[in-house]
Amino acid sequence: MKALVLAAGTGTRLRPVTHTGAKQLVPIANKPVLFYALEAISAAGIANVGIVVEPNADDIKKAVGDGSRFGVDVTYICQEQPLGLAHAVLVSQDFLGSDDFLMYLGDNYVGGGVTSVVEAFRHDRPSARILLTQVPDPTAFGVAELDDTGRVASLEEKPTRPKSDLAVMGVYLFTSEIHEGIREIKPSARGELEITHAIQWLIEQGRDVTATVNTSYWRDTGNVADILEVNRHVLDTTEGPGAAAGEVDPDSTLIGEVHLEEGARIVRSWVEGPVVIGAGTLITDARIGPYTSIAEDCRVSGSAIRSSILLSGSTVDGVSAIADSLIGRHASITTAAAGGDSHRLVLGDHTRIALAG
Ligand code: TTP
Repeated sequence: MKALVLAAGTGTRLRPVTHTGAKQLVPIANKPVLFYALEAISAAGIANVGIVVEPNADDIKKAVGDGSRFGVDVTYICQEQPLGLAHAVLVSQDFLGSDDFLMYLGDNYVGGGVTSVVEAFRHDRPSARILLTQVPDPTAFGVAELDDTGRVASLEEKPTRPKSDLAVMGVYLFTSEIHEGIREIKPSARGELEITHAIQWLIEQGRDVTATVNTSYWRDTGNVADILEVNRHVLDTTEGPGAAAGEVDPDSTLIGEVHLEEGARIVRSWVEGPVVIGAGTLITDARIGPYTSIAEDCRVSGSAIRSSILLSGSTVDGVSAIADSLIGRHASITTAAAGGDSHRLVLGDHTRIALAG
């Protein structure tokens, strides 16, 4: 059995971060969301992993390498244009051959891992098995209707009137029959080859499409609110090495789970966990946390930051209250020079900024 991880796509909802980097590398508790996927795949005993990437995906290739650090063997597959999830499978045919495979969306976070669903698939070997989660508003998802036996009776992509509250998660198990379905479907109204349509084709042919209703934590990290939510969840549930790898001066106070990576320094600051501070980051005269992840080589001084994620190399200086924010690589937020009474902004395309007062 192989795994196919989808890490191309446009990531429009995460601009401007995705102008300069893949969304699958946005860190959750200072680890790219894609790494959690690769760890889950490796834990499920799948070693042969294809990663679908866009043509300029050097950042993903550099971060993941040959996969050996995850105990897997990675093959990169280039998808020239993000023409849909089923299109990503189509361009991966040489890699997949006629093998069964696990398809995993590289921006999804699956709290309970995928080991049990992979085992269930290996045992029953239906044509396809999908993972479903109950959600309050299914209209933004693929939605499944189950029959009395628990098999999938129908699938609809982003329905205006959903037939159930069971959303299709970003984890699917397929036999090679899915390739027949993909050959039969046409692009949807949004111009994409939809995997839900290919699965629906299997259902209409009377093939066996089964489902696992997932009860553990799951999120698609496609937008900022969900990324912050997953960051909060992971910080809350992961135990790390504590402050051992960093330096804390006697004038600082650390409360709760605070993880300092190699060379992180806390000076005259108050840090309330759960918080993770990256390697080489310096925090001075600041108030950090809770629920905050600060990546490596950042500088935070005279500021307060909570429920946020700072990517590597960013600077925050003299800003009294940052909350619920995602701050990109090498971004700089400071206060205006003394006497300044206006906001001075140099913002990347598609940046969103909400100023208080
Ligand atoms: P989506 O989040 O559905 O699409 P997107 O990445 O284009 O984002 P947005 O809607 O904000 O523009 O994609 C889910 C996952 O699948 C994500 O990891 C990207 C990947 N993907 C591909 O690899 N190829 C594709 O053609 C598409 C559409 C997505």
